[in-house]
Amino acid sequence: MTATPKKPQGLNRYREYWTLFRNEQTDPEPFYRRMASDTADTLEARHGSVVGKRILDLGCGAGWYTAELRTRGADVLPVDLDPGELALAGAPPEGALVADAADLPLEDQSIDAVLCSNLLEHCSRAPVVIDEIARILKPGGWAYVSWTNWYSPWGGHLYAPYHYLGPRFGTWLHDRLHGTPDKNVINDGLWPVHISTILARVKSHPELVIDRVEPRYWPRLAFISRIPVVREVLSWNCVIHLRRAA
Ligand SMILES: C[S@@+](CC[C@H](N)C(=O)[O-])C[C@H]1O[C@@H](n2cnc3c(N)ncnc32)[C@H](O)[C@@H]1O
Repeated sequence: MTATPKKPQGLNRYREYWTLFRNEQTDPEPFYRRMASDTADTLEARHGSVVGKRILDLGCGAGWYTAELRTRGADVLPVDLDPGELALAGAPPEGALVADAADLPLEDQSIDAVLCSNLLEHCSRAPVVIDEIARILKPGGWAYVSWTNWYSPWGGHLYAPYHYLGPRFGTWLHDRLHGTPDKNVINDGLWPVHISTILARVKSHPELVIDRVEPRYWPRLAFISRIPVVREVLSWNCVIHLRRAA
């Protein structure tokens, strides 16, 4: 049996992330495989083995997270609104469902866990996605909700840092100087989604319990997530670990 190579830790981990992230546009696979593997490690450390768990990969895209969770024994339902995104890495993930995360064709309390990675900022009705997660989770089920919050340095995606000038003026100036990007145009594929808005929506559901809020790439600095305004900039990408009360 071949031993799994050890992942770099500490500063080397950030160095590796940064290199993979910088190459993401031209060579996405290594970046997404690494993200999927690290996220699955985080989920298993927090919730235990995923073997046999019915997990919804919400906004699954090409299905890197679906593939990783399946190798670990989970029963994954990949869902995405866009057939083009599902086919980005070749064939869509097996069993993929084309559906809107804000209007899921799923039964109430039918899913053990939800992985929702980097979907909210691409959805015009992000808070409604939280309502749907609350509805479909089984009692005792958990969810991992992560997204690039708007005031993050990467909040504007290809518009960054012009997004700091506001969705209208920032878009206008960027497009004048650099042209319009092929995807993730602001208010058409990319929407400003703030941590305070999403936390408020989660808290509006008495059945949901927030276990932890943390910056995805520097989770040890979770205290940042407790400071309004500051967290909107410094989190870069926010993760909410939540659970439906048993
Ligand atoms: C940036 S990709 C994230 C893919 C993957 N989850 C990840 O973290 O790498 C965002 C995905 O969300 C999908 N998406 C956007 N709005 C959606 C919606 N309302 N319902 C379901 N999927 C949606 C897009 O088609 C796209 O595949």
